[in-house]
Amino acid sequence: MELIRSVRSMQEAALTVKRSARRIALVPTMGALHEGHVALIRAAQNRGAAVVVSIYVNPAQFAPHEDFKQYPRDLDGDLAVCRREGVDVVFAPTDEEMYATDASTWVTESLIAKRLEGERRPHFFRGVCTVVSKLFLICQPDVAVFGQKDYQQWKVIQRMVRDLNFPVEIIAVPTVREPDGLACSSRNRYLDPLERAQATVLYKALLVARDLFNQGEFNAHRLASAMIRAIELAPSARLDYAEVADGETLMPRSEVRRGDVALVAAYIGKTRLIDNLVL
Ligand code: PAF
Repeated sequence: MELIRSVRSMQEAALTVKRSARRIALVPTMGALHEGHVALIRAAQNRGAAVVVSIYVNPAQFAPHEDFKQYPRDLDGDLAVCRREGVDVVFAPTDEEMYATDASTWVTESLIAKRLEGERRPHFFRGVCTVVSKLFLICQPDVAVFGQKDYQQWKVIQRMVRDLNFPVEIIAVPTVREPDGLACSSRNRYLDPLERAQATVLYKALLVARDLFNQGEFNAHRLASAMIRAIELAPSARLDYAEVADGETLMPRSEVRRGDVALVAAYIGKTRLIDNLVL
């Protein structure tokens, strides 16, 4: 496995792979790798491509009051996971490599990115679209793999790839969950044992919505209210949003259809978690 730290070396390595007529599959991550990332890596390998895992905590997608500084960083642990999984290349650039100090070019998607996460975290999707565009130009992937856990991010990136004609196929991998249903996330590391036990409330709320939907409840407002009531059962939880939205555009719904998506965000203690379930 090769560890590459500079943009130029990564671009050269990508060209070498391309010349050998091998495809490249990129797994973009911010490190602190967990089972969810392992599923992404394995999906990339199933495409028979050379697998590049990028590890970069992207400052551009954090607001000044958010957890950029505390975000878990464990390059040695991440490299061990990548080695064990047979990854070909890890691209782990520094901030200096990724952004000029006076960088002034940004990529934005202006429909899907507006609501939900975009409303609460105005920096977020601009930072994600910009860094993912840069990673595409640096790593030259044919395929890029994202987790459905970040559902809105997946849809924003799909739209960006379509609108900007990136020659990259986007694959989404189903959310990997702990045995009790909590979606794997690097931020789960912030939870103390009591909070960890209560964090399952997000998934429980989604299951409530799915059960009601399967029983014939199609009113989006009533489904959202049921999710809110379920989240409020956990004393450590503070709701951010619970909503059912169009599965492609993330626009709000009044009457829910199959393929729409239930999305929740809540603070468990100080940790903000998100989750979703397609109905
Ligand atoms: O999902 C993530 O880990 C990040 O948002 C991504 C896609 C790697 C961009 O920094």
